[in-house]
Amino acid sequence: MSNTATIEINGKKYEMPILTGTENEIAIDISSFRSQSGVITLDQGYKNTGSCESEITFLDGEKGILRYRGYSIEELAEKASFLEVCYLLIFGELPNKVQLEKFHNDIREQSIVADDMKKILDGFPQSAHPMGVLSSLTSALVAFNPSSVQVSSEEAMYKAIVKILGKFPVLVAWTHRKRLGYPYEYGDEDLGYVENIAKMMFKKPNKEYKSNPVVIDALDKLLILHADHEQNCSTSTVRIVGSSHAGLFASLAAGISALWGPLHGGANQAVIEMLEAIKEDGGDTKKYMGKAKDKDDPFRLMGFGHRVYKNFDPRAKIIKKSADEVLSSLGIVDPILDIAKGLEKEALEDPYFVDRKLYPNVDFYSGIIYRALNIPTEMFTVMFALGRLPGWIAQWREMRLKKEPIGRPRQLYQGYTHRPFKSVDDR
Ligand code: SDX
Repeated sequence: MSNTATIEINGKKYEMPILTGTENEIAIDISSFRSQSGVITLDQGYKNTGSCESEITFLDGEKGILRYRGYSIEELAEKASFLEVCYLLIFGELPNKVQLEKFHNDIREQSIVADDMKKILDGFPQSAHPMGVLSSLTSALVAFNPSSVQVSSEEAMYKAIVKILGKFPVLVAWTHRKRLGYPYEYGDEDLGYVENIAKMMFKKPNKEYKSNPVVIDALDKLLILHADHEQNCSTSTVRIVGSSHAGLFASLAAGISALWGPLHGGANQAVIEMLEAIKEDGGDTKKYMGKAKDKDDPFRLMGFGHRVYKNFDPRAKIIKKSADEVLSSLGIVDPILDIAKGLEKEALEDPYFVDRKLYPNVDFYSGIIYRALNIPTEMFTVMFALGRLPGWIAQWREMRLKKEPIGRPRQLYQGYTHRPFKSVDDR
């Protein structure tokens, strides 16, 4: 195969290098195209355009493959802890015992949040959506940790990274407790990373917290499954905000806002709301399938379809299996799970979905487990953000260490050509 691609415009030929990835994906490097030809490319939604070369996560949408730093999501979900996956995504290798212990201790040392942050949290109405609260609190962390903004050395980056890995779970827990009207509490730094998160979130003010291994294991697995997903909308947001050297916390705050959207991470909340509506409607899945296929109806089958996966989302398969296990071990019967399975079966037999290669994605079943863990629907996307935190950090760190330029796309202008100003009397 030739290692260059040629584009011909008005009889003139322009050659661009062809790059091959470690999984034999091919890319045309067009970084010199405009300087050679004065011409740009256009690709709404970046469906065909890569923003970077990355060593962190590999997806094969056709085969339904997901790997973090070469390890399959199936193996990591089964055998690793979320904290190990955080280390793997950020630093590129699974930690040995000494590295993992040091990493956890460095995080523990940063797990206190300035008390004045509670004043900011108190300023929100109890009805505020937790994603908006979390993005604001994450941005506010900058004010209390100014040394985490201008970080260019690996050492300074590491300090900012363990700070946010220590403080972000506290913000998540406090955001959750604010909505319950509970006092803001810390967990117990002698506990495991995820166990401590669960205690901070679920401990009732009037009784001892007893950790449930089923809950901890389910949470740990869900966080691993959400940890990274290459250049999705929110990760691309973190990268482009970070490319202006706005700092890690500010970049994460922007990523949280991007994730909030119902077409992205907000879908896990929208899925449960959709399943609840179907249940209220007497379980009439056919009506909702019809709405999803009706071009005049803005309704979409939430939790279905994906920009990259044109096969089963491997995470959805694992979560679906885990949902059965968690509900049965907690002795919960949730009719919503049966409605979800029925909807999936119908969609997978319906030409509209089959032709468009629309399969359940990560958001389709995750909410069913969150419900079983007594996490309120509006907190589902916050749990997605908690899981995606290490992925955002890893992608931000890779972009900064590679000293990538500020992200600034071009456009094709379709507005007025030059015209003279008219005074108000002449308009
Ligand atoms: C996440 O990018 C990532 O990696 C994201 C994520 C991650 O880990 O970061 O995986 C997490 O965001 C998962 C996706 C969660 N969102 C949803 O579940 C919302 C519902 N899904 C859709 O809105 C949609 O499938 C997207 C947004 C996920 C993907 O949209 P695309 O790639 O832009 O595809 P498209 O809108 O061009 O759809 C192609 C066709 C269209 O029909 P035609 O115009 O060809 O006739 O498929 C149809 C769409 O109308 N379609 C759907 C549908 N999804 C696509 N029709 C009904 N229901 C749906 N869910």
